[in-house]
Amino acid sequence: MSIFKKDKKSGGNYLSGKEVRAIAKENKKVMKELEAYKNRKCDESEYLTEMKGEENILEIDDLHSYFFTEQGVVKAVNGVSFDIPKNKTVGIVGESGCGKSVTSMSVMRLLQGPTGQIVSGEIRFHAKEKIFDIAKMPMRDIHKIRGSEIAMIFQEPMTSLNPIFTIGEQLDEVTFINKKGASKEEAKAKSIEMLNLVGIAMPERVYGAYPHELSGGMRQRVMIAMALASDPRLIIADEPTTALDVTIQAQILDLLRDLKDKIDGSIMLITHDLGIIAEMADYVVVMYAGRVIEKGTVEEIFHNPLHPYTIGLQKSKPTVDSDSDELYNIPGNVPNPVNMPNHCYFKERCAMCKEKCSGEYPGMIQVSPTHFVSCHLYEEGQK
Ligand SMILES: Nc1ncnc2c1ncn2[C@@H]1O[C@H](COP(=O)(O)OP(=O)(O)O)[C@@H](O)[C@H]1O
Ligand code: SF4
Ligand SMILES: [Mg+2]
Repeated sequence: MSIFKKDKKSGGNYLSGKEVRAIAKENKKVMKELEAYKNRKCDESEYLTEMKGEENILEIDDLHSYFFTEQGVVKAVNGVSFDIPKNKTVGIVGESGCGKSVTSMSVMRLLQGPTGQIVSGEIRFHAKEKIFDIAKMPMRDIHKIRGSEIAMIFQEPMTSLNPIFTIGEQLDEVTFINKKGASKEEAKAKSIEMLNLVGIAMPERVYGAYPHELSGGMRQRVMIAMALASDPRLIIADEPTTALDVTIQAQILDLLRDLKDKIDGSIMLITHDLGIIAEMADYVVVMYAGRVIEKGTVEEIFHNPLHPYTIGLQKSKPTVDSDSDELYNIPGNVPNPVNMPNHCYFKERCAMCKEKCSGEYPGMIQVSPTHFVSCHLYEEGQK
């Protein structure tokens, strides 16, 4: 097999059999330890914690989530920190592959083990009565937050809805899980109420329908209804409108915006579309190659973008009539997450690169109470 040989033509990017075996051995050891930690039994007090800021519902602190693959360790999320304040929408933006979904999957503890693992960091979540460090929770206790306190809306509703059950059956199930002892009538009443809330005109009819009988926009509304049925305090929406056409997209975004106030909750909105961020978000987190490179209020990021990548993103915003998937035309590619350099990950694509940029990875620099940037250009005069 060519993968086991050094390939001279490709510049030696292939691993030797010995290297592959060494990686596999090391991975196996680490994955075993992390799996055991995930599956341990422990007292709740082990993962109770305090919030750093009382105004926050979620605080992600130096999160590292990796994939232990045969080719090496993919550091998909490599030291990510940001907060989601109560009743606010925080937009997470960045090119495809920069770690947005892995961040959200880490919060929901949906990373597929044994390969995908939270390796370190804290995810502090202010639940109704307690404060949990989600990163430390054993899997057996995840039901305390997943699908109840935190709900997720995925990009492609068809893959998240079960084709063999009616919409009503799937919605009722959420109530049965979250409200012990709920009767069939109570569950149905709640389901119909949620379908109404998400603007479905004939809720009774949709209640009895199967997923394939609905349009893409309707299915996404159903997914949102399902997310809401548990009265979550935080909704994570991962590219919730990417699969929809433009008019439906606008309707779904309006709906999400209304709901945030109605449910008195927060939204973590993941998208590669800066237009959506500008319309929806209070705060913006810009990610690049598994790290946060800039974060601030929506005004700061749009009116005073500092990181060359953020500036590039704004210049390369897609236009309505471009139907290309290539949303960003900043030259170059995101570096390979297996072998990250020690310097700024954006260096190879950066037009503002200075001598210093070949040195250590830049730290986070605070430029206002809410605005932070990780770039050597802003270091002077900083603490
Ligand atoms: N199951 C997996 N195994 C290995 N690598 C993965 C897996 N899932 C995601 N990755 C890698 O993690 C990185 C971040 O992915 P993701 O969070 O899905 O990006 P996005 O910002 O587009 O949501 C990418 O480099 C991707 O290739
Ligand atoms: S640290 Fe240097 S290379 Fe990186 S974005 Fe800033 S100027 Fe560009
Ligand atoms: Mg994604």
